[in-house]
Amino acid sequence: MDSALAKSTPIEFTPDQLPAHIGVIMDGNGRWAEERGKHRTEGHRAGVDALRRLIACAIEFDIKYLTIFSFSSENWRRPPDEVNTILGLMKKFVASDIGTFVKNNVRVRILGSRDGLNSSVLKMIKDAEDRTQHCTGLRLNVAFNYGSRTELLDAAKAIAARVANGDLDLNDIDENMFTQSLYTADLPDPDVIFRTSGEQRLSNFLLWQAAYSEFIFSEEYWPDFDRASFLSLLDSYAGRKRRFGSVG
Ligand code: IPE
Ligand code: IPE
Ligand code: MG
Repeated sequence: MDSALAKSTPIEFTPDQLPAHIGVIMDGNGRWAEERGKHRTEGHRAGVDALRRLIACAIEFDIKYLTIFSFSSENWRRPPDEVNTILGLMKKFVASDIGTFVKNNVRVRILGSRDGLNSSVLKMIKDAEDRTQHCTGLRLNVAFNYGSRTELLDAAKAIAARVANGDLDLNDIDENMFTQSLYTADLPDPDVIFRTSGEQRLSNFLLWQAAYSEFIFSEEYWPDFDRASFLSLLDSYAGRKRRFGSVG
């Protein structure tokens, strides 16, 4: 722990102490369930409630961008019934909460490859993005069927094709134009990446974008995440000194 903050301590942050963009790797659903003698799918169900708590916190603290890792391109390797449960829960979540997003001015965007997704999943993505496209509050980015290596390769291929066509000069490829070729185009880099469940790795999440992100890890399993966890995250972030290679 970066701080001795008790989980229930009420604290106030100045705006410059708050991250503009938080990335969250919601991990530990399966272990949460297994430790309770339940099926892993119960952990995913409980994880949806934790996600609702996270979004409510982001709104309460006026966080501008929240990017959540909901399903990685590698998660298809899981047993089909688990994959189907996760997809079903996502669809149900979007269907039941979209009205709340609109009411709270939350704009949803799905980051990831659309290749190979079935029509009902594609419809869910389109509905979520279309129905919230006018919203100007929290930007909720859902990394779904997301893998950062594929994202980087897709960007490299798109840029290479433009050079090959003569539409782009090699010397015009710079960090900014590369950034704009990623799924996350128009989003600032995450200030902080937060992961639950004790694992300390990125698992193919935002590899380019996290170059200067702060990393905060918690031992808690994702379904146990609550407002106190969020306050603890903000407190840890507020204590970090970001230097970006300079002397601070
Ligand atoms: C995170 O929890 C949810 C997804 C990856 C979809 P896990 O299902 O990875 O839970 P653990 O890591 O097995 O406990
Ligand atoms: C990362 O968690 C993906 C999501 C949280 C959606 P995993 O549980 O899939 O990652 P690994 O396999 O432990 O690295
Ligand atoms: Mg996991």
